Amino acid sequence: MPAGFGTLPLHFALPDLPRTAALATALAPLARAGDCIALWGDLGAGKTAFARAFLRALGVVEDVPSPTFALVQPYDTDGGPVAHFDLYRIEAEAELDEIGFDAALDDGIILVEWPGRAGRRLPDDRLDIVFSLDSSGQRAATLTGHGDWPARLDGFAP
Ligand SMILES: Nc1ncnc2c1ncn2[C@@H]1O[C@H](COP(=O)(O)OP(=O)(O)OP(=O)(O)O)[C@@H](O)[C@H]1O
Ligand SMILES: [Mg+2]
Repeated sequence: MPAGFGTLPLHFALPDLPRTAALATALAPLARAGDCIALWGDLGAGKTAFARAFLRALGVVEDVPSPTFALVQPYDTDGGPVAHFDLYRIEAEAELDEIGFDAALDDGIILVEWPGRAGRRLPDDRLDIVFSLDSSGQRAATLTGHGDWPARLDGFAP
């Protein structure tokens, strides 16, 4: 990473849903077509809550359900197409073709819950956000940017 580009990873405490929304609202304008935002973290860590707030920040007013069963929900947003994936139930990388994973990345932004299920198909140039919920109930998110994300996140302060 070139010198002078903010320090990564970036760590944020997320004590309540408004803090998750503030993080998502600050990130949404930095994202553009072809971006993969990988949402890591255990069950209930706050991935869908982040995705919902991110979509709201891009003007989505319709319901934003968890794509647990649909596997993908597409949205038309002020920032172009956004596809929200939940790969929890994916068992083989080949299933990604059936749900249009690469096509969605060509068309717009993808938000991906359970990104590890995408295996080698997960793009290297991506923003990783790891959501955590510890035993005392403290929630947090840690951002690590790859590709040009460190430059985009220079000075990031939600
Ligand atoms: N920052 C937060 N503060 C308080 N509650 C939160 C926060 N983020 C998420 N929650 C709540 O935690 C619960 C689980 O959140 P969410 O559905 O986003 O988890 P998830 O990581 O998507 O889980 P899954 O792996 O099952 O998809 C929801 O009730 C949500 O409202
Ligand atoms: Mg979820």
